[in-house]
Amino acid sequence: PRLIVIDTDPGIDDAIGILLALASPEFDIAGITTVAGNIGIETTTLNAGRLLAFAGRGDIPVFQGAAAPLSRPGPEPLNLHGEDGIGGVALPAPTRGRESRHALEWLAEFLLARPEGSVEVLALGPLTNLARLVLERPDAAKRIGRIIAMGGAIHERGNVGPRAEFNLWADPEAAAAVVASDVPLALIPLDVTRRVRATREFVEALSASGGPLAAMVARLIQSYFESETNRESRPLHDPCVMLCALAPELFRIEELRLTVDTGAGDDAGALTIDGSGSPVHVALGVDGPAALDLLARRLMRN
Ligand code: BDR
Ligand code: CA
Repeated sequence: PRLIVIDTDPGIDDAIGILLALASPEFDIAGITTVAGNIGIETTTLNAGRLLAFAGRGDIPVFQGAAAPLSRPGPEPLNLHGEDGIGGVALPAPTRGRESRHALEWLAEFLLARPEGSVEVLALGPLTNLARLVLERPDAAKRIGRIIAMGGAIHERGNVGPRAEFNLWADPEAAAAVVASDVPLALIPLDVTRRVRATREFVEALSASGGPLAAMVARLIQSYFESETNRESRPLHDPCVMLCALAPELFRIEELRLTVDTGAGDDAGALTIDGSGSPVHVALGVDGPAALDLLARRLMRN
């Protein structure tokens, strides 16, 4: 199996991505590192532990990472995913406390102890932890095989500002540092994640399948529907990272040169295609029904 680290701010869609990874034998999850984003760091860390407890995977360690962006004051918590960050869905308490070491310290040591290029990082939140690794521990960062990150909007409108997507907006300097670094980066922007949509029928099919994992994901998506009324379907942003790692053939990926807007305002974190920017592999298209089908098959067999 492929050695992976999940860097995340759970988050309803993060939770679904983590459960998908746990249901995928292709992945050997070495650890989960947490970051503030959808909600504060204490809660994202707690949620990671609760998800692992639910899945019976208390053996996977959780390392708490950055509480605030690199150089800006943290945004006011938006509580988009409810006060507990996961839409009020019931989960057990963690079976194992979070590790005492900081995520950055563990990640650096872990990368240095593994063959160069053998570890992939699946990034589901603001890029603060990974930027700090790049800036403070370049010796370790350069050993990452690849980062696959949910973030940005290329031709689509943003979901925070007209062009800004939440993860990059939440820490634009971090996004800029990761994009500019030599670590191979694949980005999964809103252009793709808005095309992998759960409908109410999809939720019903998951519930009806009877498996505990599918039922949990159905509850998570259901809570997502309850957060906004009159929506026919909801995008599954973060699970697209896992889906792209598992089935790249379902995605249309192009190399683009990108810069990140580090100005103030609503479009902080916006991406611009610019010949002087850094090369990034960007997913620009996806076979949405096939991606959803893969997600459902993984969840239902567990
Ligand atoms: C991203 O923002 C967060 O709210 C989601 O978890 C996802 O990572 C989508 O813009
Ligand atoms: Ca997220």
